[in-house]
Amino acid sequence: MTNNINSVGILGIGSFIPPKKLTNFDLEKIVDTNNEWIITRTGIKSRHIADEHTSASDLATEAALKALKDADIKADEIDLIIVATATPDMAFPSTACIVQNNIKATKSAAFDLAAGCSGFIYGLVVAKQFIATGVYKKILLIGAEALSKVVNWNDRNTCVLFGDGAGAVVIGPTEEGKGILSECLGADGEGGKFLTIPAGGSRMPTTLETVKGDLHYIKMDGSEVFKFAVRIMNKASMEAIEKSGYGIEDIDYLIPHQANIRIIESAAKKLKLPMDKVHVNLDKYGNMSAASIPIALDEAVKEGKVKENDIIVMVGFGAGLTWGSCVIKWNK
Ligand code: ACO
Repeated sequence: MTNNINSVGILGIGSFIPPKKLTNFDLEKIVDTNNEWIITRTGIKSRHIADEHTSASDLATEAALKALKDADIKADEIDLIIVATATPDMAFPSTACIVQNNIKATKSAAFDLAAGCSGFIYGLVVAKQFIATGVYKKILLIGAEALSKVVNWNDRNTCVLFGDGAGAVVIGPTEEGKGILSECLGADGEGGKFLTIPAGGSRMPTTLETVKGDLHYIKMDGSEVFKFAVRIMNKASMEAIEKSGYGIEDIDYLIPHQANIRIIESAAKKLKLPMDKVHVNLDKYGNMSAASIPIALDEAVKEGKVKENDIIVMVGFGAGLTWGSCVIKWNK
C-alpha cells in the first residue's frame, strides 16, 4: 500500500456527451469506409460530435456541474481545477481557467494537463498528491475532448475512431484504506512521433501552407500505436495492482481507455479477466481521449457495475506516448 498522509478518493462524478450522434453509416457518406470494416477492426458503431459552437470547455463545464451536484458541494469550495485535454479551447487561457469562470469557482487555482488519452489518470495522480499532503481539500478533475475539431474528416484512418465528450470527478479526503490505493504513470517520448498534431505550436506555427497540407489535424501510425497499447495496458495494470497489495483475483472491475475493442480484449485476456468485468462503451462513443475513462467510470457507477468497496483498475495509454493506471477501492 502507498503511504498516504490522507486517503484520497472520488467524492462525486458526472459526465456529458454532446447530443449529435454520427453513425458508421453516416461516415460511409463522408469517406471511403464501411460499417463492417469499422466494427470489425475497432468495435465502434457510433460517436457523438460537438456542434460548431461547442468547445472542450463547454463540454467540461456541463460535466463539472454534474460532478459538483453529485458530490453535493458548491463551486466556491473547490481549491483547484485540472482539465486533462488534448483539445483545449486555445493555447491560452487554459481550458481550466475558462471552466473556472463558467462555474464561478472563485477560490480555485486552475491549469490544463497534457498527457493525451492518459490525461485523466495523470490528473488523478496529481490531484491525489495535493489532497494527501493536506495542501488542498477539494479538487475538480475533468477529462474533456472535442476531438472532432482536430480530426481530418477526409482521412479514413483516423476520422472513424474519435468522438467528443467530458467526464468530471471531485477528489478529496476519504476513509482510511479506501479511495486511490496505488498508481503507475509512464512516458516514452521516443514514440511521440506515432501520434501527433504537427502544426499550430511553436515548432510549426500555423501558416497557409500548414493548413493546405492538413498539418493541423491528427496524424497517427495506427499499427505502431496498436502494438504499444497492447503491450502497455497489461504492464501498467499489473504494476498498479502489485503496488496496491491486492492480486488480480481481487479485481472486481476494469475500466480501460476506450480506443479499440481488440486492444481491450487483448488486455483482458492477458490479465485473465473475463469481459463481464471489463467496461466497454466505445461502441457508442468511440475514443474520447482524456474523457473516455471518466465517462466510462460514471456509466459503470450509474449502471451498478461498480459498487461500494469494489476494487477497480483504471488504465489508459495515449499520445506522448504516455500511459497511466490506478487501483481504487470504491467508496462513494
Ligand atoms: N475504412 C476502411 N478501410 C480502412 C479504414 C477505414 N476507416 N481505415 C484504414 N483502412 C484500410 C487501410 O488503408 C489499410 O488498407 P491497405 O492494406 O490497402 O493499406 C487496411 O484498412 C488495414 O489497415 P491497418 O492499419 O492494418 O488496420 P488495423 O487493423 O491495424 O486497424 C486501427 C487500424 C483501427 C487504426 C488500429 O491500428 C488501431 O486501433 N490502432 C490504435 C489507434 C489508437 O488507439 N489511437 C488512439 C491513441 S490515444 C490518443 O491519445 C488520441
